[in-house]
Parts: sequence; structure tokens; C-alpha cells
Amino acid sequence: MKPRLQHVLGLPRRLLAQPPTLPGPLSRRAPELSRCRAFNTSVPRRVSPAEGRGGGNQRTAAATAKRVSGPASPRRAVAAAGLAGLVSALALLHLSSTSPTSFDSPASAVASAFSAAAAAHSDPDPGPVFTKSPSGPSSTAADNRDPDLPRFRISEVRKHGADSDNPWVIHEDKVYDITDWVPAHPGGQVILRAAGGSIDPYWNIFSIHKNQYVYDILAQYLIGYIDQADLIDGLPAQDEIEDPFADDPQRDPSLITKTAKPRNAETPGEALSSQFLTPNELFYVRNHMWVPTIDEPAADKYVLTVELVDGTTKQYTLQDLKSRFPSHTITAVLQCSGNRRKHMTQGSGRSTNGLQWTAGAISNATWEGVLLSDVLADAGFEVSEALSGESEAKHVHFAGLEAYAASIPIKKAVDPQGDVLLAYSMNGQPLPRDHGYPLRSIVPGHVAARSVKWLNQITLSDEESTSQWQRKDYKCFGPNETKVDWDAAPAIQELPVQSAITEVKTGGWTKAARNDAQGQADETAQKVTLGGYAYSGGGRSIIRVDVSIDSGKSWSQAYLLPDCIGKDGSPSPCQGHGAWSWKRWRFDTAVPLGTFQEPEKVGSSEQVGSGEVESPPAATRGNKKCTTVMVKATDDTYNTQPESHAATWNLRGNLATAWHRIQVCVDCSSAPAPSSASDQGAPKNKNDG
Ligand code: HEM
Repeated sequence: MKPRLQHVLGLPRRLLAQPPTLPGPLSRRAPELSRCRAFNTSVPRRVSPAEGRGGGNQRTAAATAKRVSGPASPRRAVAAAGLAGLVSALALLHLSSTSPTSFDSPASAVASAFSAAAAAHSDPDPGPVFTKSPSGPSSTAADNRDPDLPRFRISEVRKHGADSDNPWVIHEDKVYDITDWVPAHPGGQVILRAAGGSIDPYWNIFSIHKNQYVYDILAQYLIGYIDQADLIDGLPAQDEIEDPFADDPQRDPSLITKTAKPRNAETPGEALSSQFLTPNELFYVRNHMWVPTIDEPAADKYVLTVELVDGTTKQYTLQDLKSRFPSHTITAVLQCSGNRRKHMTQGSGRSTNGLQWTAGAISNATWEGVLLSDVLADAGFEVSEALSGESEAKHVHFAGLEAYAASIPIKKAVDPQGDVLLAYSMNGQPLPRDHGYPLRSIVPGHVAARSVKWLNQITLSDEESTSQWQRKDYKCFGPNETKVDWDAAPAIQELPVQSAITEVKTGGWTKAARNDAQGQADETAQKVTLGGYAYSGGGRSIIRVDVSIDSGKSWSQAYLLPDCIGKDGSPSPCQGHGAWSWKRWRFDTAVPLGTFQEPEKVGSSEQVGSGEVESPPAATRGNKKCTTVMVKATDDTYNTQPESHAATWNLRGNLATAWHRIQVCVDCSSAPAPSSASDQGAPKNKNDG
């Protein structure tokens, strides 16, 4: 029996109060081949500067050189050639980081901890060893797989664990050398959890991977097959792993789940526009990993470490932050860079990689905390130097407990009107666990990816965070660019102008005045109420929302709700120096019968493939005639939204801000003649006239 393998994820044990439970029974398990992997355990060890800082890409240039020149199958050589330049560049970038550091960032700790754990049980990496199929219990079964590719015993794959220069994984009965993929993995170094074994139990949990484009990436790294001798019914024994999401919080069932593990869920449409402040339980959730567990009684002792460029560190408990610095409240939207990605996919007719959010990866809340610049100054940072542009520090890195990391430019961090918070409260309550309890950064006006949850480390640096979420992922390229140089584009920071329709109600037939050559006449029209949100980044306010009810032939202006005006002598609910909140808008109109001319898009929005238009809300579907309504917003710099998703398509589907189009459909056969059309033509229900 092999020793039970405990991989380490660099999470302090106190953060996982409840031991994660094991997943359900495994269908296939040969004890001598299987192993159990845990996601919790020890405190991260320290790393030397040479091992690096920041969130990822800790693999060295030497390792890269070895990988590229090492033994390779023809297929691997092709894959390596494609990625070698990128990997080398990242490795060199890493090596050029000379700033001393005395604390791990969580992500580097993850990789280091993996290595430490793996080193404890695996043999020195012998490099890829191709074997002939040895004789074994099942080796007499016919092996009809590609004879040109080698067979590997599982014991050989095990040697290519997290500490190996050439990590391998198994998927089904195939073996992959993922060396060149590790620095590019959008999920970061957590991928090394699976090194030396099968990814399948992990992908059963991290279901985001069950996607053709992920299988296509994996296929590039195929180097061979598991030897017949190690297969049972055609598959190797499954590793047993602990579910790192077992302690995730309960969520409101009305959130629209995109992935359960990690939890990603949209705010439902009605909650987007019916309230100015999104209730905490309906605020959209974007998690990259699992939710760290912090015991409430211990929360005030939660420690934030601040590290200056010269390596000086200072630590603050949550209680220190609350008691030693003035509190500051702002009202601010958080929006995922992938909000409306699904609209881009549908509108452009081209696939995009990432969670297919509709319009609900955005929410608005009040946030209370302390100013980042106050804490930096207290830690010894010369804020005035940064304000005058003379500081060596150019970026502020935020790292969260679960391994996520990102950074913002120092200019935003110290801007006296920038309102960057270290927040502990959301809508007047302690941060919910899903939203970063007990401490997170809030960077208003910037993409939410910079508002790091479960914040425990701030590092000043002359360069950006090296995490995948900074250097890759949240960037945009031209619509023609499908193989990209990630370093060639800046990380998304301030967001562009955005708007969406989140509410459509049809209200029955009425009479509307029409002016034409013959003079004025009444015509039959359908009452339609539209509502939604508009928002722009960088503190730019929304000055106008334009709505069209006839596919863009004519436009009118929507009514902007006065949410930021105090009522009955009470102060405005909007706080902060910029227009950090969204504007809600309403548009009440009567759509002439003759405007409903389009056939209805068939099926749900999931089935709308290549059209520019989102299919109608369920309540207006049926055997009906439709019109396309659209919205676009303009901010106070007169930036406005692009007309088409095709023009702004990018492979990651980021910043999908094209005009939001949606079909509104009515049963025209129920329309009364113009003379009798009036408000007595009451709708059968509020959505269906
Ligand atoms: C060779 C194997 C793997 C490949 C090719 C791969 C590929 C990918 C890709 C393409 C994404 C982005 C998905 C999207 O945004 O649509 C992703 C995300 C992710 N992967 Fe993997 N992955 C692999 C193994 C793993 C393993 C073994 C784990 C966990 C132990 C893991 C954890 C994650 C996580 C947590 C994310 C989400 C990151 C985020 O939301 O920012 N991956 N992976």
C-alpha cells in the first residue's frame, strides 16, 4: 500500500475550520494505485527572492530550457514550439524580479508548498521515460490505441509530480506533459495539484473544464497512453481527492448559477434594476477557487501584511484597521470583465472562452472600510512621492487567502479622490463570506478583478502582479487575433461604458397618437416598459441612455432614476468622490402595432446562435410578432458603447459592451381595431398583452 499522499495548498490550517469531506464513492479504485489528495494543511513556507514573488509562473528559465530541449514526442515538440517563447519570456520576467521579499505571496506559497509536499514522497525526476508495454494482469487485452505513441506505467507518471520540471497528468487513459501549459493556466498553479496523477477527479469538481475548448488545449500535450497493465475496464484507478469547496457557504437559490465549484453566479434580472443597492445575498458571485473559512470570533485578529518596495513589512489586525484609521464609505459597482460575454458570443457568432455570463455579472453596494492610502502611509510609504510620480513603487499588489492575486497602478491607490478601500463592510453588514469576509480591497471604477477578496497581503512593487489574472486573462485583443502575445496588451483596469436591459414588461393595447402626412391619427400600440442599468468606469458618470424600440431606426432617451439624490432631507445614498455607482433607467412607451414585424427567435437565448439579438424573455415568447429593442449609454467623456459585438470580439470575451438588443414579442392577433383600442384592452397578464 502506498503511503497516503497529502498535497499542501499553502492554506493555514485555521482557514479550514471544517475538514473538507471526501467526494462520493469512487467507481474504480485499486488501493495500490490510488491515492488521496487533500486541499488543506500546512502554513506556507517562506521563499527566497530567487524563488520569486507574485502570483504564478515560478518555474525557472533553466527548467524551461530543459523542457524545450528535453526528450519529446513529436506531438509534444509541436506544442512546445508554440509555447516556448511565451514560457521563456515569463521565466525571464520572473528572474528579473530582484526586489527582496520576506513574505510569500499566497500564490507562490501554493506552488512552493506543492513542491515541498511532493518532494517528500516522489523520486527525483528522471525525465520522460518511455516504456514498452510490460506484461501485467491486463496486458493481454487488445490495445487498439495509436501504436505510434508510447505506453507509460502509472508509477512513471507519478514521478512527474508538482516538483518535477516536467509535470504530467492523466486524463482517461492518456498521458499529457503539461509543462508548457502550467505558466499559461488561467487557474494558476493550482493545476499542479493534479501533477503526477489524473486530472479527472479534479475536473469533476472544477467543472469549468468540461468544455471542448479546454479538451482542445489538453490535446496539444498528449505524449502517450497508460499501459494496459494499469487499466481496469480501459481506465486507470482514480485518485481520491478532498473537495476544497465542501465548506463553501449556502447561497440564495435565486442567484443564477454558472458554475457551482468554484461558485460563479449572476444576480437575477429583477434584482438588477428593482433596487439601487443590490442586497448582499443577491450580489453576483465570482469566485476563482473555494471560499476560505475564517472563524467569526477570530476575525478581529485576522492579519493583513503590508510590504513596501524595500521589503519592510508591517502587519495590521482587522481590529487595528478599524480602530486606528478613519472609516470611509463609498457606493460602488463591481462588474466582472466577462459581464455580457454570452451576448458577445451570440452577437458575433464566434465562441469566446470563459463563463458565459449574461447581463448579471454586475451589482452595486455600499462599502465601508479604511483608505488604502492611509494604511500605506502608516506602513512607511511616502504617499506624496507617489502623488508626484517619483516613487519607485508603481503598482500595489493584492493577494487573497485562496491564491488569487492582482494589482492596480499606484496612481489609483494614492489618488485622494480614488477612494480605494480596504473594506470590511458591505451594505452595512460585515462582508459575507462569498464577498471576501473579513477583508477585501474595493477599487471603484476598475474591473472587479482588482477588488481582491479575503485580502491578506499588500505588496508595493515596481512591476505588476505576475498572477495569471493580471498578466493574462483580463486583457483584450483585436477581433482577428486568435493567437495572442499576452504581454502586448495592458491589463484591464478602468471599465468602459456599459448598459443593459434587465426588465421588459408589456402592458396591453392602447391608443397612441401618430403624426403622418394625413395629419394626426390614433393607432393601436402596445404599452411596453423597459428598465435596466448603465455604468461607466473611472468614476465617469452616465449622462444619457438612448433606447430604440424599432431595431435602431429611431431613438429616444430613457429616464434616469434619481438614486443619488437624498430624499426628505436624508443624505444621498451615493458616497465617494467619483460616480462609482450605476444609474438605473426606465423607459415607458407605446410601441405601434406595425412595429412588431419580426419573427420570433426560436427557443431560449441559449439556442440563439449567430444573431445579434438576444431572444425574448420567456413571458413574451409564443407564436407572436416581435420588435428588437436596444439600449446604449453615454458617459460624461462622451464615450459610448460600440454598435456590434463582432467589432469588439476578443478571444476571452472580455468587455462585451455592444448595444444590448432584446426581442419584445406580442400576439398581434389580439390587437383591437384602432377605434376601439384603449386601456380597456387589458392584458391577460403583466407580461403578455
Ligand atoms: C492540463 C489540465 C488543465 C487544463 C488544460 C486546464 C485549463 C483551464 C482553462 C482553459 C481554464 C479557463 C476556463 C474558463 O475561464 O473558461 C481553467 C480554469 C481553471 N482551472 Fe484549469 N486546467 C487544467 C487543470 C486544472 C486542475 C487540475 C485544477 C485544479 C486542481 C484546475 C483549476 C482551475 C481553476 C480553479 C480555474 C478557474 C480559474 C478562474 O476562475 O479564474 N485546472 N483551466
